[in-house]
Amino acid sequence: MSVVLGIETSCDETGAGLVSDGVLLGDALASSADEHARFGGVVPEVAARAHVSALVPMVRQAVDRAGIRLKDIDAVAVTAGPGLSTAVQVGLAAAKAYATALDVPLYGVHHLAGHAAVDVLDHGPLPERCVALIVSGGHTSLLALRDLARDPVVHLGDTVDDAAGEAFDKVARLLGLAYPGGPAISQAALDGDPAAIAFPRPMTGPRDAPFGFSFSGLKTGVARHVEAATGPIAVADVAASFQQAVVDVLVTKALRACRAEGADTLLMVGGVAANRALRAGMQEACTAAGITLRVPPIRLCTDNGAMIAALGDLLVRADVKPTGLASAVEPGAVLTGALIPPR
Ligand code: KG4
Ligand code: ZN
Repeated sequence: MSVVLGIETSCDETGAGLVSDGVLLGDALASSADEHARFGGVVPEVAARAHVSALVPMVRQAVDRAGIRLKDIDAVAVTAGPGLSTAVQVGLAAAKAYATALDVPLYGVHHLAGHAAVDVLDHGPLPERCVALIVSGGHTSLLALRDLARDPVVHLGDTVDDAAGEAFDKVARLLGLAYPGGPAISQAALDGDPAAIAFPRPMTGPRDAPFGFSFSGLKTGVARHVEAATGPIAVADVAASFQQAVVDVLVTKALRACRAEGADTLLMVGGVAANRALRAGMQEACTAAGITLRVPPIRLCTDNGAMIAALGDLLVRADVKPTGLASAVEPGAVLTGALIPPR
């Protein structure tokens, strides 16, 4: 049995994880979110510097928590993209150093495939085929998945503008809520009425791309509402109504994709999958439709090292050829499969 070290530095979280045969042995996570809060978004240079100081301590902490030694590691997997270029560089450079020092194979992997792979840790092997909804800060996609380690990923639809998480972050800023916006909105929404304001459900019309998304119009809808307000803004109602609009769109499209693909399993992953209203809404719709919903535990939905280790573990067990020391950062990598092949 191999032990895989996973390293994640694509945005503002420095993650390290250790996975063996589908089991999480230990992980550790540092975040520079507080350092970005006053800018209202991630500052790449600040994130990269934070990774430099946090990375080795996080690997050490993960190794300690796993109760192993560094020399027990049999392979290293690292996010090679997509993400902030300078941030990803830090993780990749460190991963190359660990792989070289330990004389073990290196896999440069796709961050979004990691989001999907992490579900294996709590819920066991993925089915032979399923539909995946990836909802993160940078991406919103509906995918047809087969063997995540070996097979190409098929895109059924993607967002044409903002990602779902990006919409949460931008609307939070409009409402004067803290960064990152997703948790802030879901918190504010607890006291609000989701039916208070009828925000648009973009791209749900009969002539729209059936599996495509667009969230920038929804964000504009919220901005118009805020601008038009004459008195104080009912932040809780706006947050709850916005959140409900996002949930409605994601549920409608994800179930439509499952029906079209004849898939009996829906995998929902990425930072926005941590949203409780979305988890509840999707579960309700899937139960009614006889679809099995798989969602990772909340703590593993947002960026972490365990997800990259989980993906590396799938690659090792599938005997996939490592990308090796030629692995290079691809900041805008499109999700076509688990690996980011060196150019
Ligand atoms: O997957 P992730 O950690 O990083 C990317 O790969 O982008 O996703 C981060 C995004 C952010 O936009 C954040 O606001 C959103 O996920 N998010 C949430 C929640 N927690 C994080 N959105 C809605 N509700 C949440 N509870
Ligand atoms: Zn992510």
